[in-house]
Amino acid sequence: MPAIGWYNGTMGPLSEMTVPMNDRAVYFGDGCYEACLATGLRVFALEAHLDRFERSLKALSIPFRMDRESLVRTLTDCLAAADEPCAALYWQVSRATAQRMHAFPAGEAKPNLLIMVTPKTRSASGTPMKLITAEDVRYAMCDVKTLNLIPNVLANERAKECGADEAVFVRNGFVTEGSHTNVHILKDGVLCTHPTDRYILPGVTRAILLGLCKGCSIPVSEQAFAKDALFSADEVLITSSTLGVRRAETIDGIAVGGRDEARYQRILQAYERRFSEEMRV
Ligand code: PDD
Repeated sequence: MPAIGWYNGTMGPLSEMTVPMNDRAVYFGDGCYEACLATGLRVFALEAHLDRFERSLKALSIPFRMDRESLVRTLTDCLAAADEPCAALYWQVSRATAQRMHAFPAGEAKPNLLIMVTPKTRSASGTPMKLITAEDVRYAMCDVKTLNLIPNVLANERAKECGADEAVFVRNGFVTEGSHTNVHILKDGVLCTHPTDRYILPGVTRAILLGLCKGCSIPVSEQAFAKDALFSADEVLITSSTLGVRRAETIDGIAVGGRDEARYQRILQAYERRFSEEMRV
């Protein structure tokens, strides 16, 4: 099946779907979103994504009234229509459709729901990644999953131009996260990761990773680490809903990690087990 699009009740092939010019997502990016991985009708860690989505709506004061059950039913309808063994499921809500002005539109302007289902090949979880570092020029609302992703887009494009897969943001000498991933290191048996403050997205996969580490008796330190620590780390790990858990093999063209194979494999296998159990694949 082709990729599926859904907008305010209308479903169709994604390439044929359109949105009104006055949707505030178009000119302000005034909305929030979630991106998940689905196999058939199952969505990995769906409840955690829905929880974060509700937090984003609240942070942006978007009065989206559809209840959780109806949203899940609509997402499932889109997955059923796409009929893909493995798919990326994306949804976003924008504040309203209204003539452009910065303040919220007055009166009864209703939020817009947009859903996309696109076929996805789940790459082998052990596939290593090439990273670059990039200055983190983003604002102090990185914890909210808004549509405003220009620094992320530019950084990821630069990674691509460098022949790499992902850009790692560095703010004041400390690693925050990737352009669309969270970044962690294993050092001396401890998993170190940036705390969930205003400067990173609280990744669903990050939270799963921390839980798995506890289950594997790997201590976790939620403290920011310096850029240099990436290069002296035993392993550099990358997480996201679409990528799962990966490790880095180079950063800025320099070989990194590969020094704690045993813990990396334990974490990876624990993640794969968790994924297979929940998704029954
Ligand atoms: N990105 N940090 C940023 C800036 C992200 O955009 C993402 C996810 C993550 C990882 O979060 P999670 O584990 O919940 O996927 C961290 C998604 C995949 C995207 O924008 O497509």
